[in-house]
Amino acid sequence: MPLTVDKGLGNTIAADTNLSFIDGTNGVLEYVGYDIDSLARNATFEETTWLLWNGRLPNTHELAAFAKELQSEYAVDARMLDVVRAIPRTAAPMDALRTLVSALAHFDLEADEQTPAANKRKSLRLLAKTATLVALFDRYRKGKSFVAPDATLSLAGNFLWMLTGARATPSMERALDVCLVLHADHGLNASTFAARVTIATQSDMYSAATTAVGTLKGPLHGGANQEVMEMLLEIGDLSKVDAYIASKLARKERIMGFGHRVYKAYDPRATYLKTFAKQVAADTGNLPLYEMTRRIEEIVLAQPNIIEKGIFPNVDFYSATTYYSLGLDLDLFTCMFAASRMAGWTGHCIEQLAANKLVRPHAEYTGPHGLSYLPIGQRPDGETSSTCPSVKTAMSVLV
Ligand code: CMC
Repeated sequence: MPLTVDKGLGNTIAADTNLSFIDGTNGVLEYVGYDIDSLARNATFEETTWLLWNGRLPNTHELAAFAKELQSEYAVDARMLDVVRAIPRTAAPMDALRTLVSALAHFDLEADEQTPAANKRKSLRLLAKTATLVALFDRYRKGKSFVAPDATLSLAGNFLWMLTGARATPSMERALDVCLVLHADHGLNASTFAARVTIATQSDMYSAATTAVGTLKGPLHGGANQEVMEMLLEIGDLSKVDAYIASKLARKERIMGFGHRVYKAYDPRATYLKTFAKQVAADTGNLPLYEMTRRIEEIVLAQPNIIEKGIFPNVDFYSATTYYSLGLDLDLFTCMFAASRMAGWTGHCIEQLAANKLVRPHAEYTGPHGLSYLPIGQRPDGETSSTCPSVKTAMSVLV
């Protein structure tokens, strides 16, 4: 087959999936055929995960059994607490999470067992423990004692309990749960692709999950929600929004929380979150922040060409104020994205292994050919003597 050039792979279908469907032109996202808006309004995160992993909605008995299994895995091996304490308190939580997800493998006797049943069990453990690890690291870095998990709570409720040491109100638990539902899967996004590449080498679930956390960290992927909140705090007040956004647009800077590689219509995950975020902000005394987001949306969407370019608010624009209203530190926002997307990452890994093919694209070689090997003593000194133009360019960019 002739090779095609597709840098960024934006025009390449690299896998089949039954998990989620995206129509970016019309602003549609479905998990296994169910519209994301109806799931966000009606389903819990546990129910959504069961759907993604099993290809249909659970009945009452199945959901209760699944919730129980998940709850039984919230706790981590006691030695994981030493790993948490070995990380510098100053570490970014996403960096800590990358290390901790990787470390989980050492305390799972099935880590390298590759049967579908073992991989399902490991998916459950990874999902249950990721939120736990985020809460543990946050308490440790603040010098607070750890809070033991409560195996009677939902994943969202238990996370808030382990993070704060206080029972979340039903509306706080529901707010976090909605964000988890909305972030659980999203086609072959960068971190999911990275996870599938790793598992396709017949590596293990923990390695794939670790790869995915590292990939999600980037500001072009999972890191944008934190930047939205930083922008809102920098603006500070509704009266300053117009001037701030006008000056950003005049400098041709991007407004965080707007635009998406796939959606050229309103991000369907933002539709419900927009009204929901208002309620959460009102309940927690953060309505002024919400009003700022609404004004930013009005200004940006009124710009000439912006709708033609397909720039609309994305999921991060409204999840940012929701997480903030729940009292989460800004640098935990992307960790919550990871705690939710673990459902999608692991589901995709199992799907990849069921019809596995090593992922191995090509690179176009742009260096020299046919050079003669010189013994080391005969080579000229210094950077200027490099015979490889691409190496010279790379070095000049680095300095
Ligand atoms: N604000 C203003 N203009 C924008 C923005 C923005 N946020 N995003 C894109 N544009 C403009 C861009 O300047 C360009 O204009 P022109 O054609 O005149 O040069 C045009 O839209 C196309 O931009 P692009 O970079 O080619 O589009 P892309 O599809 O590669 O970028 C994106 C997608 C998400 C990287 C980008 O929209 C962006 O940087 N947004 C801000 C960061 C953000 O909110 N990311 C979260 C994405 S949702 C979470 C997830 O699913 O991972």
